[in-house]
This record gives sequence, C-alpha cells and structure tokens, in this order.
Amino acid sequence: MSDVVIELKNIYKTFKLNYKEKTTVYETLVTTVKKKSPSQTFNALSNISFSVKKGEMLGIIGHNGSGKSTLLKVICHILPPSQGSIKTKGKIIPFLQLGSGFNGDLTAIENIKMYGMILGIQKNKIAKKIPEILEYAELESFKDTKVKHFSSGMFARLAFATAIQSEPDILVIDETLSVGDLAFQQKSFNTFLDIKKQNTTIIYVTHNLDDVLRLCDRAILLYKGFVGDVGDPKLIVDKYKTVVEKSPDYIEESLAKEIGVYYQKILKRPPDVIGMLDHFYRIKKGEISLNDIPSILKNSEEYVSIHG
Ligand SMILES: Nc1ncnc2c1ncn2[C@@H]1O[C@H](COP(=O)(O)OP(=O)(O)OP(=O)(O)O)[C@@H](O)[C@H]1O
Ligand SMILES: [Mg+2]
Repeated sequence: MSDVVIELKNIYKTFKLNYKEKTTVYETLVTTVKKKSPSQTFNALSNISFSVKKGEMLGIIGHNGSGKSTLLKVICHILPPSQGSIKTKGKIIPFLQLGSGFNGDLTAIENIKMYGMILGIQKNKIAKKIPEILEYAELESFKDTKVKHFSSGMFARLAFATAIQSEPDILVIDETLSVGDLAFQQKSFNTFLDIKKQNTTIIYVTHNLDDVLRLCDRAILLYKGFVGDVGDPKLIVDKYKTVVEKSPDYIEESLAKEIGVYYQKILKRPPDVIGMLDHFYRIKKGEISLNDIPSILKNSEEYVSIHG
C-alpha cells in the first residue's frame, strides 16, 4: 500500500442550487413577488472511491458537467469534500485553469517569476530557468509584453512551460494540452512522456480520447458525478463512447426502476450507468427481455466472484 499516493474514500461534493445573483432591477422585482423556492442541493460528486499509485497517469473523462473539474479540485485540496476522506502524499501542483495566477498587467518574464513563486519554486531557480521557459513556450520575442495582449494559446504555453518547472510529485491537469496549436500539443505530449518517466504521478482530465489512449495507464469515466467505471484506458474510452451513443435520455424511468430492483436483489447494489444502459439498449432492440436480467446478473463476473 505504500506506493499509493492518492486515496479517495466515499467522496461526496454537494453544492447549493438557486444561488442566482440578481443583476437587474427586473430580476430583483421578480424575486420579491415570487414565492421563495426552497434552496436545493445538488451532488456534483457521489460516492467516489479510488486510489492512484506513484508514477501512474490516470485519465478522467466524461460529459460536460459530469464532475471532472470538481473532482480535481477535491484532489488538490482546493475544495473540501462534503463527505468522505481524501489522502494524498507529496507535493501536488494543480494546473486547473490556464494561467490561473497570471496577472494581465505584468509582462511574460514578471509573470514567470510570480507564478513560479505561487508554485513554490525557489526564486533563484526560477530566475535561472526563465530563458528555458521562454524558449519552450516559443515566446522569447514577447518576453517584455504584458500577458493581457497574449492570445489564449500563448497564455497557455507560458503557463504550461512555467508549471512544468515545479517538479511536483503529483501533477493535476485540467484539459490544457488541447489549447496550444498542433506543434505545441506535440511538444507538450513529449513533455508528459518525460515527466512520466521521472515517476511523477499525473491526473489528467481531457476530452481528447486519443490522449487518454496514448498516455494514460488507467482511466476513470465520470457520469453525473458517479464513477461509471475505472480501468484500462481502451475499455473506459469504449464505454464512454457507448454512453454517448446510447444517449441516457432514452432510459424510461419505469424500466430503469425495474432493472434497479434486480440489481439490488442479486448484486446488492444500485445499477451502474454502463450496466443499466447496456440492458436498456438490448431490451429496446428486442435482443433480451426484462425477465432475462436476473439470469444475466447471476452469470456476471461480479456475482460469480461473490457467490462462487
Ligand atoms: N461552485 C459551484 N456551485 C454550484 N455548482 C457547481 C459549482 N462548481 C461546479 N458546479 C456544478 O457541478 C457540476 C460538475 O461541474 P464540473 O465543473 O466539475 O464539470 P466538468 O465535468 O469539469 O465539466 P466540463 O467538461 O464542462 O469541464 C456541474 O453541474 C456544475 O454546474
Ligand atoms: Mg471541467
């Protein structure tokens, strides 16, 4: 167990809804005449448990709003979980938003120094690294330009080039490779391979499924705040594609409930999204009927491993 560097147990993150700020006189009036709706809560993350070993690169994929960025913030200790426990070992560098920590009114060089300090890099070390960072970002001729005049790609390159100097034990990245142009994407891809070779643990959220296949050792599919599945990247990417194709909007609530009852009875747990979609889709296509679900579940690896 000693090589586990991230461990999440039963993590929930709950947000309050109905927090819309009133920005116009009309909205203010409407709220005063409207009956106050009770504040609702919403689980952005539900019962998330997994661990990551030192040197592993874990990809996290899923629909917009499935909880990926929220999960990264919990891992980086930026957001406390509402429930559950999280343990991490070593220095974590969060690379969550492009150039978060950058100041538009400072030049590229000034920002490298400041961002370097935020990332915990020693002052003299970052000063020595400035030429290398500018060269990597291909921004030497813009070194004295205020970064507010940078394009978003230039911004991303500078931020990425600076962040990778911080020699973290755990690097947490939210979708940044795809921002640079093709040449920069190739370069940052190679940098990831180098960082990986140094046994750095990397958590990588992306919508680029090819990156997950090429780079990651394992992947997680998040679905509406739940872990849809964890495992081999190829398997997880295929499952994600299946989920996208078999749009979950097609699930009929009554059928879902009936399938859910079988899961509880036989596997003693609620159905996972992949299993549910698979049964649903096959029923719709006429390949199986609802009555076949118990025997399918009893023949599943999960059931056999529990009951022999
Ligand atoms: N501070 C917050 N307050 C309320 N709701 C939030 C907050 N942060 C995130 N959410 C909600 O939590 C859900 C998950 O958001 P999150 O940003 O983690 O999604 P994501 O998977 O990163 O999506 P994307 O692919 O678009 O980046 C969304 O429904 C979002 O609206
Ligand atoms: Mg996100």
